[in-house]
Amino acid sequence: NKITVSVIKADVGGLCGHTLAPDELLEVCEAVLEEAVDEVILDYYVTRCGDDIDLIMTHKLGCDNEKVHGLAWRAFEEATKVAKELKLYGAGQDLLSDSFSGNVRGMGPGCAEMEFVERKSEPIVVFCCDKTDPTAFNYPLYKMFADPFNTAGLVFDPSMISGFKFEVHDVVGHKKVFLETPEEVYMLLALIGDYEKYAIKRVYRRKDNEIAAVVSTEKLNYIAGEYVGKDDPVAIVRAQSGFPAVGEVLEPFANPHFVPGWMRGSHWGPLMPVGEEDATPTRFDGPARIIALGFQVCDGMLIGPNDLFADKGFDKAREKALEMADIMRRMGPFQPHRLPATMMEYTTVPKVLKALEDRFIPLEGLELIEEGGITRKDRGDVE
Ligand code: 13P
Ligand code: 13P
Ligand code: MG
Ligand code: MG
Ligand code: MG
Repeated sequence: NKITVSVIKADVGGLCGHTLAPDELLEVCEAVLEEAVDEVILDYYVTRCGDDIDLIMTHKLGCDNEKVHGLAWRAFEEATKVAKELKLYGAGQDLLSDSFSGNVRGMGPGCAEMEFVERKSEPIVVFCCDKTDPTAFNYPLYKMFADPFNTAGLVFDPSMISGFKFEVHDVVGHKKVFLETPEEVYMLLALIGDYEKYAIKRVYRRKDNEIAAVVSTEKLNYIAGEYVGKDDPVAIVRAQSGFPAVGEVLEPFANPHFVPGWMRGSHWGPLMPVGEEDATPTRFDGPARIIALGFQVCDGMLIGPNDLFADKGFDKAREKALEMADIMRRMGPFQPHRLPATMMEYTTVPKVLKALEDRFIPLEGLELIEEGGITRKDRGDVE
């Protein structure tokens, strides 16, 4: 009697530009999911963060289930039809394929799923973001599950004291590694501090290997041999009794951190925690937003949500994020506002370089340095 929570998201069009998925699209998705209640899913909640639609679903079919993924795909296809009728911006943006082939992974939508035996009481927090990518969760997941200055339970709760296990994906090398905290905290940080290469996919409780958190990382991987760029991510985190308390799950966002994304998916900026009503990024298409919806899962039904970041307790975080946004914006097209080339979602810079190709003149006398080995190859990741 396991329950699966599946959060599947896609951007199928914005009103206007990349700012908002309008009500019309959410209503279409709700209608498709409503039809599938009892047939495929137990319960659902549809929300949005900016131009991304998030389908939060519960069911008994396990992760990667064809029926559940097919249902989400159908909802996004129907919403795309409306988006095209209204000529919304980027209509069908995240549906990379014309036909569904069993699983949304690699087809454009992002997906975070976890299966568990429901506890006596099962609080979960669903996070949905816009204008950033899945590495936005590296820092907060570290704080939640490995930093006792964030999570008092790591020190006080006997079932957490043995720590957590992090599944880290190398999204360039298509590999994964499991690291156990607290013993391997420094090695974990050595990897996940590098947003160009590493993303946390899952976290498990070491005591019993129970799933604690999962993040959508789909598009960070190179789909069909091509880097299709960022995917505004979602995550699910279980809370309380042996997991961080809800307030410990939310606490990392009280001090905003910088994430990749924002305008054209090509800038660093703060991640601003907001309530559902304020998930409307418009300033320079941002700054990046995150909402946190708290549910109690009850016999597979979603009781809630509680719109957790709507709380006044996060007002100061929002203020700080806006100050950070101002500081970054001052830099315009200069780094460190602008992302390194390897992380840009889409950019005309390669085209600019192509246009200038014939105008570059070799610097005399620098051949020796090349021979001395100071070449881009030293970076290892740019072969
Ligand atoms: P209450 O006393 O409000 O139940 O809170 C207990 C708790 O653990 C808060 O983190
Ligand atoms: P989205 O990833 O939210 O579609 O935004 C893309 C963009 O170009 C924002 O400026
Ligand atoms: Mg968009
Ligand atoms: Mg988006
Ligand atoms: Mg994006």
